[in-house]
Amino acid sequence: MDLFQTKPLEKLLDEAAEHNALKRTLGPGSLVALGIGAIIGAGIFTLTGVVAATHTGPGLIFSFVLTAIGCSLAGLCYSEFATMIPVAGSAYTYAYASFGELWAWIIGWDLILEYSVGAATVAIGWSQTLGALLAGFGLHIPGRLAASPWQSGGDGLINLPAVAVVVAVSLVLVRGIRESARFNSVIVALKVAVVLVFIAIGWGYMQPANHTPLIPPNRGEFGQFGWSGLLAGAGLIFFAYIGFDAVSTAAQEARNPRRDLPIGIFGSLAVCTVLFILYAWVLTGVVNYRELNVAAPLALALARIPHPWLAVAMNLAVLAGLTSVMLVMLLGQSRVFYSMSRDGLLPEVFAAVHPRYRTPWRSNLLLMVFVSLFAAFVPITVVGQMTSIGTMFAFVLVSGGIIIMRKRNPGLERPFRTPWVPVVPLASIAVNLLLMAGLGWTNWTRLIVWLAIGLAIYFRRRPVRTDSDRRAALAFAGQEAGTTGGEEGGSSLRRRP
Ligand code: ALA
Repeated sequence: MDLFQTKPLEKLLDEAAEHNALKRTLGPGSLVALGIGAIIGAGIFTLTGVVAATHTGPGLIFSFVLTAIGCSLAGLCYSEFATMIPVAGSAYTYAYASFGELWAWIIGWDLILEYSVGAATVAIGWSQTLGALLAGFGLHIPGRLAASPWQSGGDGLINLPAVAVVVAVSLVLVRGIRESARFNSVIVALKVAVVLVFIAIGWGYMQPANHTPLIPPNRGEFGQFGWSGLLAGAGLIFFAYIGFDAVSTAAQEARNPRRDLPIGIFGSLAVCTVLFILYAWVLTGVVNYRELNVAAPLALALARIPHPWLAVAMNLAVLAGLTSVMLVMLLGQSRVFYSMSRDGLLPEVFAAVHPRYRTPWRSNLLLMVFVSLFAAFVPITVVGQMTSIGTMFAFVLVSGGIIIMRKRNPGLERPFRTPWVPVVPLASIAVNLLLMAGLGWTNWTRLIVWLAIGLAIYFRRRPVRTDSDRRAALAFAGQEAGTTGGEEGGSSLRRRP
């Protein structure tokens, strides 16, 4: 069997139309909320301070603009794919259609970095925020029980609050998408409202001197302020934007995916870009960037604003906001695994749908264990940067996929067309590679090792699957009457009854 065998489009669309075991409940508003829910989180609430203090100064706003450009270009490509192939699985499914099975596996494996490792990152941010909130009331979680053993400068053993929130969110997902979307919309409204309040109140407490110089001069090393600092800052702050693409993983749950998915992707991206730039401007205006190298920059800024109630409200909103990010990330991951399992690239357990809740509940529970391990034992900086570089890599592949699909399937219906192909996809590839370059060699090495592990797994499993593929293909073609839907573990050609 050909490693570069692509998954036929008719099959993908058939699966969407006829074999959709997931409920179609999400309209445009819910999809925008889903995107914002995924985007605003640990990046903006925890990473902004360190990035401003060590790379950009008040020029952080330019890093946000650069990253928004990279994400928008990728968003144009995601939108074309999401409307052309409105099937759960997002970048994984797109890769299967455009590059074939091997690349589909690579990107599916890579997406674990974005969704699962990303969820672990946010869970750790959640744990830090809980610590800040409780400290405000004079309560302290013992350091040993709230940090990774490898977190520098601490005596951590295990991060229990991070594990607790992963478990709670996973159980909500097991219960179902309708309830999850409603829960998400409430939290999204809350966190956006409180970010706006911070911007509005903080605006009056900005010191013009804090914004000068806007871009502090380079200190002689690449990435330490100056123009290269803006680039390094953009690579780091990229984490804050991750999530808009998760909208596309809900394609099978969208009521009208062709119209509503682009609305969900661009609506959430536009709202968040404006909020981030204003937020960064107020943050660096209220607190001088030199003082911002802290885990909870927002708490520091709030201490300069004489409204103590705001600190408590903000920390509560941050907790809620981070929870909604995890919700979307874990939802996205289980949907990608659902598609991979249906294609035979993962065991069947990941496609088992609950008879009553109609959610991939076993997958949710397995992910809960996997993500909990990362959240419990890995430092936030390591998981955060792995998430960013993995996501940028997915953006690069999706953008390349647009060019290939235009060549291979020019006549296919595209309700949303990426403009100026191949210029926009190539620009997306270039900007995202540039942002990856800003993350440095350590992260490139981590990405390469992760992908190498994925390839090793793929080639170990592959011979077994090839036989079953062949049998299932024959059965599917009606040449083995009565054996359709055999028990061999799934295949790319197999349909479920
Ligand atoms: N954008 C998400 C966050 O910042 C991943 O938490």
